[in-house]
Amino acid sequence: MPRYQSPRGTRDLLPVERSAFLRLEAIARDLTTRYGYQPMETPLFEQSDVFERGYGEVTDIVEKELFRVQAGRGDQERERWALRPEPTAGIVRAYVQHGMQTLPQPVKVTLTGPMFRYDRPQAGRYRQFWQFDVEAIGDAGPAIDAEIIELATRFYALAGLQGVRARLNSIGDAACRPAYVAALQAYFRPLSAQLPPVERARLETNPLRLLDSKEALMEPLVAAAPSIAQHLCPPCAEHFASLRAHLDALGVAYDLTPALVRGLDYYTRTAFEFYRVGAEGQQQALGGGGRYDGLVELLGGKPTPGIGFGLGLDRVLLALQAQGVEPPAPTAVPIVVIGADPEDTLTRLRVATDLRAAGLAARADLKRRQLGKQLEGAAREGAHLVVICGDELADGQVQVRDLQAGTQRPVNMADLVRDLERATVQHRHGNTGR
Ligand code: HAM
Repeated sequence: MPRYQSPRGTRDLLPVERSAFLRLEAIARDLTTRYGYQPMETPLFEQSDVFERGYGEVTDIVEKELFRVQAGRGDQERERWALRPEPTAGIVRAYVQHGMQTLPQPVKVTLTGPMFRYDRPQAGRYRQFWQFDVEAIGDAGPAIDAEIIELATRFYALAGLQGVRARLNSIGDAACRPAYVAALQAYFRPLSAQLPPVERARLETNPLRLLDSKEALMEPLVAAAPSIAQHLCPPCAEHFASLRAHLDALGVAYDLTPALVRGLDYYTRTAFEFYRVGAEGQQQALGGGGRYDGLVELLGGKPTPGIGFGLGLDRVLLALQAQGVEPPAPTAVPIVVIGADPEDTLTRLRVATDLRAAGLAARADLKRRQLGKQLEGAAREGAHLVVICGDELADGQVQVRDLQAGTQRPVNMADLVRDLERATVQHRHGNTGR
C-alpha cells in the first residue's frame, strides 16, 4: 500500500469523476440561469460563530462535525474559524455584510464547491463532499418555495436520475413550534427509560431531532408521536396549504413526511429532501433544503425571509452509477499530431499549437519515438483523428488519418483547420464518412 493516502473520508476526483461532476454542474448552472439565479462564491472557512449561531449550538453539525481551523503560530488575530459544513450560513453572512437587502429582492444565487463535515465516514457520507447550492433570499413565499422544489425535481430528471421523489413537511415557526416541541417532550418523557442515551439527552436539549433519529428502536415510537401537522399556527398552515396547491398545479409530485425535520436549527416552515425510490436510507438523500426566515436576522441583518436547497453532487453521481448510467465522458477527444521524424518535436508542437489557436482540441506527441509507436499511443487513448507530419510538409501537405474509419488522405496545410473541423463534427454525429 502506498505510504501516503488521501485523508479518511475524502476522495480524489480522478478525471472521469471530475468530468462527470463538471457535467452535472453545467446542467445545474444552465437550469438555474434559466430561473434567474447568478453564481457567487464565499470563502471555504468562516468565523466559527457564523456556523454556531446559524445552526444552533445543540446540533450534530456544531457539536461534532465542525472542522475547526488551527491558525498559524504567529497568528495574532485570535479568531476562531471553521471550514464550511454547508454554504447557506456563509451566503447569508455575505448578504448582510454587502448590504444585499438594498438589491432587488429576492436575491437569487447559486454556489458550488466542497463542504466539510467531521462525521464518521461511510458509503455516501464523506468528510469533504460537493454541493451545488441554490438560495433565494428576500421572498416569504409560498410560490417561490414551489418554484425551488420544481427546479430541484427538474435537475434530477435532466441529470438522468429516475424515480426521484421529494419528501415535504412544514416544521412551523417561532409562533407554533414551541407548543409542538412541548407536546413532543410530554409524549417522550414517560418513554425516557426506553430511549438510547443520545436520544434521552436530546429530549431536553433539541427534542425535534428525536424525529429523525438514526436508531431503529426509535422508529415505532416516532411513528406514534404527535405530528407537527396538527400543531401549525394558522399562518404556517396556510403557507403550507398554498405551497402544496402550487406544487399540485405545477404537477410536481411529493410525499408528505411529518417526521422530516432536517439537521439544522435555522429552518422554519418548509422543509424538503429528495430520495430515489428504493434508496431511502440515512446517507442517501440526494439533496435537501427549506425555508430559513430567521437566519438573516440571526446573523445581524434586518428580518428577511429566505429559502434554498443543496444538491449533493457526490450522491447524485453514486446514484447514477447505481442506476447503471455511465458518467458522461469528457467532451473533446483531442486530435493527435504525430510525425515521421522522431527528433522533430518542434514541427509537431507547432502544428498542434496552430490547431488549438484555431479552437480545436489537439495534442502533439512530444516523445522522441518512432512513428508506429506514436500512432499506437494515439489509438490507445481513443483518438479519432491523427495528423501525420512527414516529407510532404515541404510541399505544404500533411496526412490526416481517421482511426475509426481506417482511412488516410493528404490535406493541404491551408485547408487543415476546416477539414478537421468538418471531420470532428461528423464524428460527433457518429458518422465516420465510411
Ligand atoms: P443538507 O441536507 O445538510 O442541507 O445537505 C444537502 C445535501 O448535501 C444532502 O442531501 C446530501 O446529498 C449532501 N451531503 C450532506 N452531507 C454529506 C456528506 N457528509 N457526504 C456526502 N454528501 C453529503 C444543507 O447543507 C443546506 N445548506 C441546504 C439548504 C440550502 N437549505 C437551505 N438552503
